[in-house]
Amino acid sequence: MNSLVIVGTQWGDEGKGKITNALSSCAEMVIRYQGGANAGHTVSVSGEPLVFHLLPSGISVPGVRCVLGPGVVIDPESLVAEIEMVRGRGIDVGANLLIDVGAHMVLPYHKTQEAAEEHARGGAAIGTTRRGIGPTCADRVARDGFAIGELARFDDFRERFVATAERKNELLTRLHGADPIDIDAETERLRALAPKLAPHLEDTPRLVRRAIADGRNVIFEGAQGTLLDISHGTYPYVTSSNTSAAGVSAGTGVPPSMIGEVMGVAKAYVTRVGEGPFPTETTGEAGALLRERGGEIGSTTGRPRRCGWLDTVALRYAVELNGIRRLIVTKLDVLDALETIPVAVAYEIGDRTVDRFPRSIEELAAASPVYEELPGWQTSTREARTEAQLPKNALAYLRRIEKLAGAEVAAASVGAAAHAVVEFAEIL
Ligand code: IMO
Ligand code: MG
Repeated sequence: MNSLVIVGTQWGDEGKGKITNALSSCAEMVIRYQGGANAGHTVSVSGEPLVFHLLPSGISVPGVRCVLGPGVVIDPESLVAEIEMVRGRGIDVGANLLIDVGAHMVLPYHKTQEAAEEHARGGAAIGTTRRGIGPTCADRVARDGFAIGELARFDDFRERFVATAERKNELLTRLHGADPIDIDAETERLRALAPKLAPHLEDTPRLVRRAIADGRNVIFEGAQGTLLDISHGTYPYVTSSNTSAAGVSAGTGVPPSMIGEVMGVAKAYVTRVGEGPFPTETTGEAGALLRERGGEIGSTTGRPRRCGWLDTVALRYAVELNGIRRLIVTKLDVLDALETIPVAVAYEIGDRTVDRFPRSIEELAAASPVYEELPGWQTSTREARTEAQLPKNALAYLRRIEKLAGAEVAAASVGAAAHAVVEFAEIL
């Protein structure tokens, strides 16, 4: 099947955006299937970094149709701002951006609600991106949400929006002691945004199914990562959608039988932003080195990312859960300076040694990694473009990952530029 899922195998920020962007030139369509503006996908366009939050990472490639599927939650204001931001960089999204009529909207009270709930959680806060994702997804499931297509019939939308916002204001003021939203002002803001989005609204599942049936290459671009999946991740320290490959069908309206390969993206080490257990986290000098060499600052919130060593217990879990046969390893060059590189191969939990990823958060929090020390290469990999140009130990590192993860490494990324990739096999 000519469709490919790009899925993050860790806690997000694996480099999905770079990979999607690089593969887009061989694709007809790129589709986001979940998440919203909580994502931050950094892509190098004409040598300059560009961060996408909602727009699929194929948007900078002329002629690629980019879809926000029904599983995405859209903040109308931030989408319009992003369209204008990329226009300022010479990219006119024009007819290439298709927004599904059924995608739900992040509305102003969602962000206020999220801030109040995070505050109320105190020490148990999740550390969200504060983009209103959780409350929007919750309202959708509670059948209290608004699909973006409803903006096309604005008077009907307004009536229900005002009634819902009044209820939300009760919640905000009475339960949380927060300020209410200004319903009239927000209604007018949405009225002004509606015509900017209207030309992009579409019945996208039909178009995507047709493209796949016609033999066109289609890429499903994941946001966040497997360990942030609402059903299979490190709950409650997760995001509010199915980030794993299982989310593709529901989030796009494409049947599972039309989904081809699932390609996993794994950073050569691991990062996490937000709270929650992270067995291989390393603070101190090593963590600082990874953060500095890897530029590990959150692209959505500007928070420094927590850094740690590659965790193949978690990676194997992601490989199995997503049905990944091939991996792309990113940021290999960040490890260039190290003398030895620890890789977690199992966990010690109490008096047991386990090689499977725990399903309970308490167990994960109690896990301490069992490391294998792999020799570093202490040579720059940044100019390598072929297998032969990789230092012997860098290649050995990738081969060891294959073995431990149970999936082939199809490519390794060695720098931010689109061409800074060593390909071991044809990908699309
Ligand atoms: P990309 O697509 C890394 C994290 C947040 C928080 C948790 C819940 O760039 O990989 P949310 O705002 O989604 O309710 O926050 O999920 N998170 C991400 N971490 N990369 C992301 O996106 C993330 N999107 C959300 O930090 O821990
Ligand atoms: Mg990111």
